[in-house]
Amino acid sequence: MKAVEQVEFRQVTKVFTAGRRTITALDGVSFTVKQGEFWTIIGPSGSGKTTLLRCLAGFETPTSGEILMAGQKVTGPGRDRMMVFQDLAQLFPWRTVLGNVTFALSLAHPEETLRRRQELARYNLELVGLEDYANLYPHQLSGGMKQRVAIARALGVRPQVLLMDEPFGSLDAITRTTLQSELLRIWAETKVTVVFVTHNIEEALVASDHIVVLARGGKVHALVTNTLPRPRQLDDPRFSRLWQHLHRLLEPAPHIPEPSSSGARGPEALPLAKPATGSASSP
Ligand SMILES: Nc1ncnc2c1ncn2[C@@H]1O[C@H](COP(=O)(O)OP(=O)(O)OP(=O)(O)O)[C@@H](O)[C@H]1O
Ligand SMILES: [Mg+2]
Repeated sequence: MKAVEQVEFRQVTKVFTAGRRTITALDGVSFTVKQGEFWTIIGPSGSGKTTLLRCLAGFETPTSGEILMAGQKVTGPGRDRMMVFQDLAQLFPWRTVLGNVTFALSLAHPEETLRRRQELARYNLELVGLEDYANLYPHQLSGGMKQRVAIARALGVRPQVLLMDEPFGSLDAITRTTLQSELLRIWAETKVTVVFVTHNIEEALVASDHIVVLARGGKVHALVTNTLPRPRQLDDPRFSRLWQHLHRLLEPAPHIPEPSSSGARGPEALPLAKPATGSASSP
């Protein structure tokens, strides 16, 4: 079956003004995501990753260029796009786990009956393995569990595209790895399209079909296609080679003159996770 083009960035530029400074967060970004694909946006701090997701979510309007969702121009937020953030405090603290998921459903799908909303919420909590925690409050959950609820809440709305801004960035390494594999299982099960932001090369390679490498100033530095068979094996020499390739793409340029009119932040070191098995030369 031919995959449908679902998200299209066409020469998207976003310029912010802060006082007398102008900041180019995105500069002529173009790429096309097909239905059911897993895309990752990677780049140094300040390279426009969050801005790109916010433009796709409809929270920001591009200064020029356009974003299409299934051929229609994005002009604002919609229930076809749901976002999960890094922030572990993104749930409503006064609502239970089930309450958080059903509340989002009641906003997005007011046409559903209460009973149907609860069924959907329970189905999505099961999907993230939290069916036994439905009556707990956010403060009674671990960080990983909170992110699972945020994923269940977003998926409950039945979006076409799930937008994720460093959703596992605040978690410890073990929880992060567990949630990565759970997300991949959920992605395979629901066939939702994912656009995922990370700083972490290994995370990008484990999960994605395509990787957009942003450079500071918000330009697309490279589009990398990852055709390694799934599940991705960290000890596969091809994985290591791709890791090295991305690492080189992300290395700061040796000398970058600071444009006087731009407020873009300087290059910062990336917190890079190395493949568990080390060198690219291992067989
Ligand atoms: N509302 C805003 N007003 C002014 N400048 C902004 C605004 N939002 C983002 N920027 C600027 O746009 C640039 C890109 O920011 P963005 O948050 O998209 O980067 P990022 O790649 O997500 O960084 P990080 O990895 O640190 O999260 C930065 O220089 C930032 O200061
Ligand atoms: Mg960001």
